[in-house]
Amino acid sequence: MSETFVPATSNRSVLNKDIFILAIESSCDDTAAAVLHNDKVLSNVVANQEIHRAYGGVVPELASRAHQQNIVPVVDQALQRANIDKNQLSAIAFTQGPGLMGSLLVGTSFAKSLSLGLNIPLINVHHMHAHILAHFIQDPEQKIPDFPFIALTISGGHTQIVLVSDYFDMQVLGETIDDAVGEAYDKSAKMLGLPYPGGPLIDRYAKDGDPEAFAFPKPKVEPLNFSFSGLKTAILYFLEQQQAKDPDFIAHRMNDICASIQKTIVDYLMEKLENAVAQTGVKRIAIGGGVSANSGIRAALAQSESDKGWQTYVPKFAYCTDNAAMIGIVGYLKFLEGHQANHSVAAKSRLSF
Ligand code: KG4
Ligand code: ZN
Repeated sequence: MSETFVPATSNRSVLNKDIFILAIESSCDDTAAAVLHNDKVLSNVVANQEIHRAYGGVVPELASRAHQQNIVPVVDQALQRANIDKNQLSAIAFTQGPGLMGSLLVGTSFAKSLSLGLNIPLINVHHMHAHILAHFIQDPEQKIPDFPFIALTISGGHTQIVLVSDYFDMQVLGETIDDAVGEAYDKSAKMLGLPYPGGPLIDRYAKDGDPEAFAFPKPKVEPLNFSFSGLKTAILYFLEQQQAKDPDFIAHRMNDICASIQKTIVDYLMEKLENAVAQTGVKRIAIGGGVSANSGIRAALAQSESDKGWQTYVPKFAYCTDNAAMIGIVGYLKFLEGHQANHSVAAKSRLSF
């Protein structure tokens, strides 16, 4: 057993006190640390690993090595920026999984050692819970959804629709059966000769293109599931055909190609959300994960407020892509509930929801 339960009453008594959580996130290629004072973020530090650019994607072994180099300075900076001494900390929260094993191990080992050294509770956090619960960070730049709501988590590793009934009462309604949406963006970008991660670049080129210029097929799967591998193949064949006629097709039509890819993906995500609303009757929609930085999905959600009567929630940019503040808010909520890990807790590359 890797999690213990401290009776809620013992921790509820601290509700009115100052709780300081140090949070650590190292599930993929960003080394991140944050300090929260209750549900407010005091510092949120992310070290991006530029090394993967040269390889066109994340290289797990290099990611793990870079986490080892980054973790001490990143945590140190988070404490300094928060103006907090480590002896003031109430607990350490860390990402247990899912993610790349070599990456998770660095954050997990660091968090365990520090919690033992300081003799304070250790709190294990599910990365995907964190993308969803990031909405509960108190911040003037974002609003907090009421329960129940539908969460669409869209990142480089995940694409899920989740019915969220309470902080820790969540049900996965659908997910991708192959690639994640961020992967679809990044792989399409690679075919267009753009560097990794290409999602933000497609988004940027799309702004000056015609979204109706080219049509790509939308894969048919279960109403709340997703599939993106067919889109990748369709784009590959399309580019090959067009380049046979015009070798400089990509350079000539970059904006239109990107706008058309973006429209296909955004329409597909919106269709799935419509299906989820029809199935559950819940019209509160919250998005999370790196792809929620995308301007197309943000615009479509804003439009749905007047067109469909939905209430939509988009996190502040810094809480969309991988960050430790989102791990910290889950740590805080679990701390209040009395949930903490014991020191036999292990990193898990696959961790059930
Ligand atoms: O959540 P995240 O930082 O890391 C994972 O857990 O995967 O998400 C990273 C993903 C990448 O695939 C990146 O291309 C994508 O988010 N992304 C975007 C945009 N910004 C980041 N995709 C499309 N449009 C964007 N503006
Ligand atoms: Zn993520």
